[in-house]
Amino acid sequence: MTLFQKLDYGPAPESDQPAQQWLESHHRSFGFYLNGNWEMPKDAELFSVENPATGEQLATCRQAGSREIAQALSGAREVQPKWEKLTGHQRAKYLYALAREMQQHSRVLSVLETLDNGKPFRESRDIDIPLAVRHFYHHAGWAQLVEEEYPQHVATGVVGQIIPWNFPLLMLAWKVAPALAYGNTVLLKPAEQTPLTALWFAECCHRIGLPAGVFQLLTGDGRTGEELVCSNGLDKIAFTGSTSVGKRIRELTADSDCKLTLELGGKSPFIVFEDADLDAAVEGVVDAIWLNQGEVCCAGSRLLLQESIAEKMVGKLQQRMQQLRVGNPLDKAIDIGSLVSKVQLERVKRLTTEGAENGATLWQPQISLPETGCFFAPTLAIDVDPSSVLAQEEIFGPVAATMTFRTPSEALELANNTMYGLAASVWSENINQALHLAPSLQAGVVWVNCTNQFDAACGFGGYRESGYGREGGREGLLEYMKPKLTAFTIKKLRRPDVQSLGHTNTLKGSEIHRTAKFFIAGKQARPDGGTVRPVWNKDGSLAGNVGQGNRKDLRNAVEAAQKASSWSKSSGHLRAQILFYFAENLSLRRQELETRLQQLLGCKSNEARQEVDSSIQRCFHYAAWADKYEGTLHQPPQGLLVPVLNEPLGVIGLICPDENPLLSFLSILLPSLAAGNRSIIIPSPSYPLIANDLIQVMETSDIPAGAVNLISGNPAEMIQTLAAHEDLDGIWVFGTEEEVRQAKRLSTSNLKRVWSNEGQVVDWHSPAAQGREWLRQASQSKNIWIPFGE
Ligand code: NAI
Repeated sequence: MTLFQKLDYGPAPESDQPAQQWLESHHRSFGFYLNGNWEMPKDAELFSVENPATGEQLATCRQAGSREIAQALSGAREVQPKWEKLTGHQRAKYLYALAREMQQHSRVLSVLETLDNGKPFRESRDIDIPLAVRHFYHHAGWAQLVEEEYPQHVATGVVGQIIPWNFPLLMLAWKVAPALAYGNTVLLKPAEQTPLTALWFAECCHRIGLPAGVFQLLTGDGRTGEELVCSNGLDKIAFTGSTSVGKRIRELTADSDCKLTLELGGKSPFIVFEDADLDAAVEGVVDAIWLNQGEVCCAGSRLLLQESIAEKMVGKLQQRMQQLRVGNPLDKAIDIGSLVSKVQLERVKRLTTEGAENGATLWQPQISLPETGCFFAPTLAIDVDPSSVLAQEEIFGPVAATMTFRTPSEALELANNTMYGLAASVWSENINQALHLAPSLQAGVVWVNCTNQFDAACGFGGYRESGYGREGGREGLLEYMKPKLTAFTIKKLRRPDVQSLGHTNTLKGSEIHRTAKFFIAGKQARPDGGTVRPVWNKDGSLAGNVGQGNRKDLRNAVEAAQKASSWSKSSGHLRAQILFYFAENLSLRRQELETRLQQLLGCKSNEARQEVDSSIQRCFHYAAWADKYEGTLHQPPQGLLVPVLNEPLGVIGLICPDENPLLSFLSILLPSLAAGNRSIIIPSPSYPLIANDLIQVMETSDIPAGAVNLISGNPAEMIQTLAAHEDLDGIWVFGTEEEVRQAKRLSTSNLKRVWSNEGQVVDWHSPAAQGREWLRQASQSKNIWIPFGE
């Protein structure tokens, strides 16, 4: 056959010379970049960095330990206020210089990335490096603008960043650029498999004169990562990697107030409807699962095909797969390079074999693979059972699992049938259908008729066990700052022993004995355990009895909240109306509530009046916000439109303090409700009756059954059940330090979002006890990418 008939590609390798020369200039041996110096401690453990495509050793690096981490932390802490004090313009110039340097050296960076990771040079050159550069440009812009745009915020402080091996420089850029833009200092730990471009970047920071200590680099494996996490000197940790390590980091930081963003694994659905442009969808699959050998957290690894076109689509895919070229990643005509390591290759092989044992049919094209290196052929697993390991576990390799569906609702059910929620891709020429599905998909990113699109201006991050926090855009920037004004005081919150709050158990004169019930699924309910306890007025008289909730009560409440999903789907306008109406009904009971507060707290009438007034105002505040906490629209350079929706977390557990029992209860409940969450709220343990008084207000205010569920009880016991509950999406703890720690520790089971007072007393009358930050904590953003035009 002539070459013309075969139309085969000849080899087109990119020269690795510039990268090899750079490695040689360092004698292929690297240390740590600490406080503006390169440190090469003689006693440091060494590890080897290899090219996975050839097995060739590229360099030797050093494993950072507690000594280096302590050194880096003290430098970062010292320089942070000075770095933050620079003007935005001064910081912008540094970020701009980094962008320019990276852009000017993009060739050496692309080759280095390919050598280190095994990904096709074409991808490093066209995707990884340009996007990394774009992040620095974009955030140079934010550095310039932050003082103007975010005058009410300050930097988070000293940040530890741990990144994986799949997009080494790009992950660095995603994390470092926003952190530096807002005045944080950074300790970065790259993956042990791929530290080379991070080392290049550290050198670049030195070259442009970035002040010592602003960016520091600690190489090493998971042990270094874990020591950094446990160092207790960080204000924030930003992690990208496996869900298991993400959960461990959550656990390890439970005892500190270190902020956390986690960008973890995924098992993203790629949904193809019968009316999709199938040829475009086939190219979409190539990008979705064979980009970067499938080593992509948001890879479209589950192909959900509408039954009527499934066979045709599989046929087209097989034909296309036959043309994919696997081989030398430096070859510019290669589609699929090498997996990152032998370990990863073994993992992919093991999971694929397991999938076949689970009943899937595996199909691979007849294409040749290089004899050495960590190569794996593109694989289609056909007729995969939704419970198969191929449909549930993140494989992180070039393996797509196909499943079929009949109706849009079946597609949705399959798509959401995973513990993850990073991304989803929907293919249909019927834009109404695609956009109808998008809000119901449990994913932080939805691509319509496209896939694996990223940009510095757009938020990226997950729902559920794909982690929390966003990277990119305003959403991502906010993760590196905190509000200047805070309602949290420095006083530690303590809970009194509720049993000792009163002494006489007598009813006065003609008073009627009263036992306050719970409020579950819109109905008053008796405690399952039949346990009640007395609640005392300040003068020692009995105010009434209150039920003590147990696990069963909480489970019933969570179930009721789960069923009340219509609240989360309701419009902001409807929620606003209901909250205004709630305020109206609350004000009708003003006198009764004032009296109750005076009796329970023994406070003066003007104090009680102030608390009731502030409570009514707070209702108005969130009624006002309910239809205004909207998303935004990004316009990335790819020419797509990216609307951002602020969606509720789902079902949240809310734990209240004793302070200002009426105002704090409403300040915690209302932002959650306004953002569209359903909740289980545990009122102040000392004064639960004030919350019970609100049940009647809720009943008359059109709040749908199950949207708010109230159960009184001991907060420490309630947290045990709520924080570990698999059907709860978040928990807010306004309690003691120990309660907060407990909630963080137990939240790892399904990675529910935890927000808290960090064990401090909150000034509930402060203007910072309401507003945007509260709504932000009650919601998660979804970026929907929509192509337009011809
Ligand atoms: P990993 O989660 O162990 O590694 C990611 C980063 O975390 C690396 O820098 C590593 O050194 C560090 N690390 C490891 N253990 C740590 C610990 N205990 N404390 C702090 N840092 C720690 O991921 P790994 O083992 O490289 O890959 C295993 C699987 O994880 C992959 O097959 C894939 O499924 C998933 N993964 C997901 C990624 C994502 O982007 N979501 C990226 C990399 C891996």
